[in-house]
Amino acid sequence: MQDFKFHIQAPVYFGHGTVKKQADLIASYGKRALLVTTKFPQGVVNQALEDVISVLNDKGIEYRVFDETEENPSVECCVRIATLAAEFKPDFFVGIGGGSSMDASKCASLLLENHITDDDAAYELLWKNPPRDAWRRPYKCTPVICVPTTAGSSSEITGFYVISRKDTNSKDTPPVIIFAEAALLDPAYIKTAPQFVLDTGAMDALSHGIETSLNVNSNFMNRQVAMIGFGLFKKFKDHLLSGELTDEDFDNIMLHSSIMGMAFYQAGTLLPHGLSYYLSHDKGLNHGLACSITQGEFLRAVPDQSLVTPILEACGFKDIDDCCDYFREIVGRNVHISVTEEECDAWAAHFMKYQAHRLDRFPGHMDEAGLAGIFKRSLKSYM
Ligand SMILES: [Fe+2]
Repeated sequence: MQDFKFHIQAPVYFGHGTVKKQADLIASYGKRALLVTTKFPQGVVNQALEDVISVLNDKGIEYRVFDETEENPSVECCVRIATLAAEFKPDFFVGIGGGSSMDASKCASLLLENHITDDDAAYELLWKNPPRDAWRRPYKCTPVICVPTTAGSSSEITGFYVISRKDTNSKDTPPVIIFAEAALLDPAYIKTAPQFVLDTGAMDALSHGIETSLNVNSNFMNRQVAMIGFGLFKKFKDHLLSGELTDEDFDNIMLHSSIMGMAFYQAGTLLPHGLSYYLSHDKGLNHGLACSITQGEFLRAVPDQSLVTPILEACGFKDIDDCCDYFREIVGRNVHISVTEEECDAWAAHFMKYQAHRLDRFPGHMDEAGLAGIFKRSLKSYM
């Protein structure tokens, strides 16, 4: 067997009512907590936040709530959280929400550790002068507990966090690995999510699994873990499409996301994630849907289809056409954009200039014309 590294760190507590069941664990992190979340629409209860607050009150833990986390949190937003943290001096953070809240908590914890409360110093630390070797091994800072309320990004599992940066007008992962101290997964929190949120989260997680399985840098372990994820996807995929999800489906959707996080953290993603950035940036598409748009045509472009077949089978697709139809249906009901052939050509050219490193992980040859072709075939109905 090939040498490999397999790194997961956060203990996962999965189950209904897990936040309250882990009250002692939460209390073990100290007497002051900063809760990082997003504002919910009027009339919608943030049940995860309510549960965390209930535990903190029971345990006599003082807390503050920052509920202004942006979608795709910016450096500036993380600095605001870190500034609040510098005043409040929390013993731990709790990131409650989707990837944005969890990512912002991790980044704010890093900034707090380094006493940073201004934007320029934050850019300097995150990208220009990060702590030495912090991309090799986890960086220790104020503990972050993650309570996801969506299933897709798996920030609760990985050492990554994606932050929007103004200096390059892009989203980026700082080269400083930060893991959650604990991931508290309660499938009840995703039960009230709109179909759109479930669709995009599930497509993001599935994309993580597919892309990392085909990544030449992957290994026996993370491919096997992704297989567990595909098996969960197979169980809920038809119900996700029809919108008739059962309690068991919600369990599987929640776990599918975290498991794919364990798989993709080891080797990273491939072409569809790279291609998705153009659709997100130029067309405003949500991340998971943007990744899934090119997924079917990406799979067709893998020269050795014997690598693809086991993935399709594990997911419960009859063949590649069945798989492409599935992605097309999920995307079709959520995505309403228009695209030109020229845009596809420009995106492919940009990819070759700035994301060519992703081609090294692809199991075969791929060039600019090939990438443009994937875009054009995937986006045919939007032209
Ligand atoms: Fe993703």
